[in-house]
Amino acid sequence: MNAPSEKMALDVARIRKDFPILDLKVNGRPLVFLDNAASSQMPRQVMDRFVRYQSTQHANIHRAVHYLSETATAEYEIARRKLQAFINAKEEREVIFTSGTTDSINLVAHGWGRKFLSEGDEIILTTLEHHSNIVPWQMVAEEKGAKIRVVPIFDNGELDLDAYEKLFNPRTKIACFTHVSNALGTINPVREMLAIARKHGVVTLVDGAQAAPHLSVDVQALDCDFYAFSGHKLCGPTGIGILYGKAALLEAMQPFKGGGDMILSVTFDKTTYAPIPAKFEAGTPPIAAAITLGAAVDYLGAVGMDRIAAHETDLLDYATRKVTELPGVRIIGTAEKKAAVLSFVIQGVHPHDVGTFLNEDGVAIRTGHHCAQPVMQRFKVPATSRASFAFYNTMDEVDALVASIRHVQKVFG
Ligand code: ALA
Repeated sequence: MNAPSEKMALDVARIRKDFPILDLKVNGRPLVFLDNAASSQMPRQVMDRFVRYQSTQHANIHRAVHYLSETATAEYEIARRKLQAFINAKEEREVIFTSGTTDSINLVAHGWGRKFLSEGDEIILTTLEHHSNIVPWQMVAEEKGAKIRVVPIFDNGELDLDAYEKLFNPRTKIACFTHVSNALGTINPVREMLAIARKHGVVTLVDGAQAAPHLSVDVQALDCDFYAFSGHKLCGPTGIGILYGKAALLEAMQPFKGGGDMILSVTFDKTTYAPIPAKFEAGTPPIAAAITLGAAVDYLGAVGMDRIAAHETDLLDYATRKVTELPGVRIIGTAEKKAAVLSFVIQGVHPHDVGTFLNEDGVAIRTGHHCAQPVMQRFKVPATSRASFAFYNTMDEVDALVASIRHVQKVFG
């Protein structure tokens, strides 16, 4: 393991004190939480923001002139500006609060796809996609008679960029791809992929669910049309996420959900819609969750996304080296550029048994297909075991993972 430079080093011991859940014992052993790609843990500062909101600021927003409603409205819009700054969006109205990445992608598939796709049009996806960036597109493709074209991957889990470029043709209307693979950790060359799509005049959507927690994201520098991510992988609460979209595209789209707060006027003859972002935030939005997510990005900003990325790279490098040394363990996904995910299979042991035995040792990982069945099919495995790291994890926890894998191998002979 390379020693991190002092400037980049995180005080992980101090950071861990912010996360009460990390003190838990599971089966009498200290919890080793390595399931961060599924959902990360929340620091006390972020929990405190939720309590302060509910204790002193809560009311419905955009609807009344009383003190609490105005306070909650202001805090909700402050949270939107924090998320705007977090991804460097040009305008705050380009940030839509959704219930999470899945909801964000569905919004684009239904709000953009149903309006702008026609029979014979093509949608580019990749083999690395999570089901949330496949199924919504299949639904809209079926409805509109559009076709899905899939970018293949190499044996190391990297995308075949030449094949990607060759898929573009005059029928291509949108290219949707993940920034970081949830199943393998591959960091896709999104800048190049976006530039290729732009050259062909094709709209782009980036699934940033696994990237936003680990890398600095700058949507203006990327120049993507849409970018989606979830709050609960970012030390925030569940039930909240973001869809970033360029204002002109969001304005051109049709709403996905109808209801209160997304209209200008309603009669039984005709409804006119509110400007963005309200057009896409029908009903009472997740006010508390949005404000709490605002506190989460404040927290991450204070820790420093570059320092987070550097520490997680050290954890991944160390874990990769240690797991590679284990006979009978195969790492699935060996791309040159990876983020925070180590997927593996142990010869002769089903991943579900691996997960169960690691849990006995207090080690929490995810096992299964990771909602990425095409990735499993590509590697001809039914499932993998996946350890995924966050900035509060330690090298000692990597050692605990490795010791527990050895334990599994001993039990299964
Ligand atoms: N998408 C989440 C994962 O990869 C749930 O585990």
